Amino acid sequence: MKKLKKIGLLTSGGDAPGMNAAIRAIVRTAKHHDVRVTGIMRGFDGLLQGDIRELSSGDVSDIIHRGGTMLRTARSAEMMTREGQEKAANICNILNLDALVIIGGNGSIAGGMSLSRLGVNVICLPGTIDLDLDCSEYTIGFDTAVNTGMDAINKLKDTSSSHQRCSIIEVMGRHKGYIALWCGVVGGAEEVIVPEDKDTTCHNRVIEQILSNRSTGKTHNMIVVAEGIGDSVALAERIESVTGISTRATILGHLQRGGNPTALDRMWASIMGHEAVEIFTQGARNRVIVAKDGNCAHLDIEEALNITRPYDEKHYKMMKILAL
Ligand code: F6P
Repeated sequence: MKKLKKIGLLTSGGDAPGMNAAIRAIVRTAKHHDVRVTGIMRGFDGLLQGDIRELSSGDVSDIIHRGGTMLRTARSAEMMTREGQEKAANICNILNLDALVIIGGNGSIAGGMSLSRLGVNVICLPGTIDLDLDCSEYTIGFDTAVNTGMDAINKLKDTSSSHQRCSIIEVMGRHKGYIALWCGVVGGAEEVIVPEDKDTTCHNRVIEQILSNRSTGKTHNMIVVAEGIGDSVALAERIESVTGISTRATILGHLQRGGNPTALDRMWASIMGHEAVEIFTQGARNRVIVAKDGNCAHLDIEEALNITRPYDEKHYKMMKILAL
């Protein structure tokens, strides 16, 4: 087998806490195998502009605990075009990359799949706070984002219980409600509204829940809304006008993307980053590193992107019971 000696490494799409821990694991495991790592700045945009630098073991010192990504990131419009993809594949060839390692979410891995179809060997790691990559039970950054949401809920509960108010907190998650569901369970919310629920009457349902809570003596309510539902401010106004209960909406926004990664995110990032280089040295082609049945595994990229995971109805029902 030809000696595999060089990988390119980029982070793409929304940053996620733990990306740095993954970069560190990749660079250090590559050094262990005598593989060179070309760091590509600003995701696919940086690749298209040749914005690269060699990464040594020392370059990744002191980053495991930092949020964000030392390689920077971007959402690349050019990479969505056929011309952009061909240009990127060509640059990978010019750079003599034996593989391009991509850390990112759905869009980034789809970008990787386009490159794989153009002959580039890609190895992808799931890096997104949203947990919306159906092929993997875990995505790097999710745990930190949920902890940030939980911390915000703890703080909001202090003030909403003092004022006997209703608090609406809107959390990220793009089109999926994983962050919202987890924040709702671990924050002890009264209601969670997620897009997967497809309940067009969810606002009415929440209002009925609040009224029923009032009749049983609950003086404050915490409602978690996924950004895929949105309209939190309008919901707060509606709740206040129908129930007469003072209601405030808080949109957590990009706070959830920052912060020091939790132990779980650092651990998964380290395991997945290490595994990516291990399978590369064994000759793997076009794989996505995933969490499966609690372990690290890898799937063919085309197969991975075709997987759909059913909505987590069981835990949603559990949340409702625990909120009674
Ligand atoms: O995918 C991560 C995420 O934070 C989503 O939860 C959110 O919908 C989106 O990115 C926000 O993107 P941007 O940072 O480009 O505003």
